[in-house]
Amino acid sequence: MSIQPEPELPDPSAGAGRDDWESRIRPRLIAQYRQAMYGPVPQHAPVRAAIRTRSVAAFDGRCARFEIALGVEFSGRRRDVPVSLYLPPPARRPPPLFFGPNYAGNVSVDPDPAIPLDAGWMRAEPDWGVVANRATDATRGLHAGRWPLAAILARGYAVATWHDGGFCPDDPAESRPVLDAGFGGAIAAWAWGFSRVLDGLSDLELIDPTRAAAIGHSRHGKAALWAGACDARIAMVVSNNSGTGGAKLFRHASGETIADLFARFPHWFAAPLRAYAGREAELPFDQHLLIGLCAPRAVYVASAKDDAWAGPVGEHRATLAAAPIYALYGPGPLPIGYHVREGGHGVTAFDWDRYLDFADRVLR
Ligand code: GCU
Repeated sequence: MSIQPEPELPDPSAGAGRDDWESRIRPRLIAQYRQAMYGPVPQHAPVRAAIRTRSVAAFDGRCARFEIALGVEFSGRRRDVPVSLYLPPPARRPPPLFFGPNYAGNVSVDPDPAIPLDAGWMRAEPDWGVVANRATDATRGLHAGRWPLAAILARGYAVATWHDGGFCPDDPAESRPVLDAGFGGAIAAWAWGFSRVLDGLSDLELIDPTRAAAIGHSRHGKAALWAGACDARIAMVVSNNSGTGGAKLFRHASGETIADLFARFPHWFAAPLRAYAGREAELPFDQHLLIGLCAPRAVYVASAKDDAWAGPVGEHRATLAAAPIYALYGPGPLPIGYHVREGGHGVTAFDWDRYLDFADRVLR
């Protein structure tokens, strides 16, 4: 067996200093990513957030759950996005936050029957209890294992979550009206959604917006990284099993290719990316730079050993190759985390324990 050498990675920061990186190289890289991969998002998007209900969240009786109605206006349209916000027991200062989208609505994260079912269009997987593209009571608690709320709250962190379809339905046809209103693709819309949720939560003054960790699994992990690159308010990004188009190097030939991505999910990325199918080595960037665009803020990438489709080795290499950009900000411990765990594609309590430990270091 012959071992293929890794193709060389683009390194626009080579020889640059921090000022040069920030004033010249970083903005150019953001523009290249926007042009070739994610596409644009609407620039003007006022957000209104209102508390609908407040209840005591089970756990130890000292945590609270808020159902928040988030309204976002852009390009003459409006999206209403229900957000569930969980607050840990009261403390001296407003709590740090993990925030991220879910796949099957807020009821999928927490089986509490008091949470209203999502009314909007929902993608259906066989075991999700989604009927005619609407959530049903069978959707309740479906992904509670991915969101170990009791453990997160016990560590003093707030959690906010919303259905990805609130911002953009995950479907080529259903996403059309949103994309036509000024988004290059669903990943860009979901990334933008992180920022709009942060706008709304900042206004409500229930959490500390300077200590907010954007978290996403898989396709949402792709979005979380782009959100972190674009929005300097995001203090930490967790990209869980995000694979191709996420933390994995395009130039690391394993798992999903650009051609695979466009064959099944033509609505995720902007059209110009498709031209790089089979020509990954010609991309003007690679995903170590996407991680580097978050510097000096914290990034955590996690892989799973059996998640070959996401390319765990390529995810790890991207994480390592981001270090020189962080080094522009001086010596000291790198705010970059990585782990690979046993098992397959998913988010587990083990993953969360690592994220919470890391957050304790970088957000406290
Ligand atoms: C598919 C897709 C991946 C994506 C994953 C997910 O497997 O090919 O790119 O990350 O779905 O979102 O779970």
